[in-house]
Amino acid sequence: MIKLAIFASGAGSNAAKIIEHFKNSSTVVIDLIVSNKKEAGVWGIAAANQIDTLYINRESFIESDACVKQLQARSIDFIVLAGFLWKVPESLIHAYPGKIINIHPALLPKYGGKGMYGMHVHEAVIAAGEKESGITIHYVDAHYDEGDIIFQAKCTIEPTDTPASLAAKIHVLEHAHFPVVIESLLSGFSM
Ligand code: GRF
Repeated sequence: MIKLAIFASGAGSNAAKIIEHFKNSSTVVIDLIVSNKKEAGVWGIAAANQIDTLYINRESFIESDACVKQLQARSIDFIVLAGFLWKVPESLIHAYPGKIINIHPALLPKYGGKGMYGMHVHEAVIAAGEKESGITIHYVDAHYDEGDIIFQAKCTIEPTDTPASLAAKIHVLEHAHFPVVIESLLSGFSM
C-alpha cells in the first residue's frame, strides 16, 4: 500500500474529496492528516474518516526535523498539500524528493508566490481583468508555487464574476481533478 499524508491548514474540502476517492482503494491509503492550525476544519474531516492526525508548529516543522521523523516513522510514501499555507522546509523536500505535490488555485506561474492564497488569488486575477483562471497541481520545491507543473485546468471568468464566484468555480475544478491526478501519479509509482 502507498501511504499518503495530506497537509491542510483550512476547511479541508480538498482533503475530504481525496479521502473519498481512495476510500476503497487497494493500493493507496490516506494514513495521516497533518495541520498547523488548531481551528482548521480538516481535523473534523479526519475524525469523521477515522484517520490519524498530526499537529505541527514552527518548532516541529521548520526549526527541527521532528515532523520529517514522524512521517518516516509512519512510513509515509507521498505527501499532498491541500490548502497548506506554510512553505515546505528543505529538510522535508530532501526527505521526500519528487514526492510532495501541491494544488494552487490559479494558472501558475502567474498569481503565485508568498501571500497568494485563498481569496487573495481570485481578487488579483479579477483585478487584472483576466478572462480565465484555473488550478495548477505541481511538485513542491523549496520556493512557494514554483515546482514543475503536473496538471492545469481552466475556467472562464465572466464580467459578472466576483472573487467569491470565481472561488466556487475553482473549487469545482479542484474537487474534480485533484484526486484523479493523485491517482494517476501514484499508479506509476514504484515503492
Ligand atoms: C484551495 O483553494 C487550494 O487550491 C488552496 O487552498 C484551498 C484549500 O481549500 N491551496 P480546502 O481547505 O481544501 O477547502
